[in-house]
Amino acid sequence: MIYFDNAATTVQKPRQVSEAVAEAMCSLGNAGRGVHEATLGASRVIFDTRKRLADFFHAESPKQIVFTMNSTESLNIAVKGILQSGDHVITTVLEHNSVLRPLYEMEKKGVELTFIQSDKKGCINPQDFEREIRENTRAVICTHGSNLTGNLVDISKIGEIAHRHGVLFCVDASQTAGVFPIDVQEMKIDILCFTGHKSLLGPQGTGGMYVREGVDVRPLLSGGSGVQTYSREHPAQMPTALEAGTLNGHGIAGLNAAIGYIQETGMDVIRNQEQALMKRFYDGVKEIPGVKIYGDFTTDCRCPIVALNLGDYDSSEVSDELFMSYGIATRPGAHCAPLMHQALGTVEQGAVRFSFSHYNTEEEIDAAVAALCELA
Ligand code: ALA
Repeated sequence: MIYFDNAATTVQKPRQVSEAVAEAMCSLGNAGRGVHEATLGASRVIFDTRKRLADFFHAESPKQIVFTMNSTESLNIAVKGILQSGDHVITTVLEHNSVLRPLYEMEKKGVELTFIQSDKKGCINPQDFEREIRENTRAVICTHGSNLTGNLVDISKIGEIAHRHGVLFCVDASQTAGVFPIDVQEMKIDILCFTGHKSLLGPQGTGGMYVREGVDVRPLLSGGSGVQTYSREHPAQMPTALEAGTLNGHGIAGLNAAIGYIQETGMDVIRNQEQALMKRFYDGVKEIPGVKIYGDFTTDCRCPIVALNLGDYDSSEVSDELFMSYGIATRPGAHCAPLMHQALGTVEQGAVRFSFSHYNTEEEIDAAVAALCELA
């Protein structure tokens, strides 16, 4: 199989990730639940991963890093934990359903929503956020990179605007964490939501969020914490405040190894390889008659994604043919990004998304270009 569905999840992981998970499964106890070696081992791995992530995203302290199952859980905690009736939120048409659906739920509870629109290439203008700020604007919630077009959003500019107006800034880094540098201090991010299983190259079921010290987020869950057992309330101290029950220690051990791999290899090296592959693919397919490409390719500074359609063919038919006849894995359809498809005019047809990893090769790219030529 030629795997070009890395924006959904990376399949090829560094060898040390599965080794770390296997070792953790044979040795880790339950973190924070005792003083024997197995529980201490789990606590150490989890703390070490918090610290690595805090350094990776420039958080002020490891205690501001919370572990969750994925970006969706992090975004639910963020959206439902900071908003209440009467608040106003500014978001964008680039968002994934993991942002949109929690926001629509909050809309039913009296939260007002404003959507920043994109141009025909799926780009948004950071200045538009400033125009939409109202007296009751509580938060700006925005993706760092579109999972459909791969367009990046200038979160530094948006962070500066939000910060200047005293509005919380929450970023969905699902498509960028692990491939683009993210500095929550410099970018003025109050809440950063990320998943472990995409560009961070970790196991599925790992993810987390950074919450700036002093930002009050109501927890979604309460329960066992290993501490303050006789209190009727879940502990208020971070990170326990937003973590209830046994953490995914085995997965977190894998995530730890994955971040180690990214740091040893160099995020810039990984990104440059992915972007070179994306460019080779884009250059190879852009002139094929009948191919229509979505997104902004006037810059190389974008997620390694190319979404396209072939004539009027349904994207699922093309994706199916690519896999059945050529062994090429892509994602067709709507990509959980309904408003982006509306903006691009692709609601009926969907789009065939090719998303690359640094583990892909030039030969794989050339094979996909040849396959598209043949299909066209
Ligand atoms: N959000 C993932 C994607 O874009 C699953 O495919």
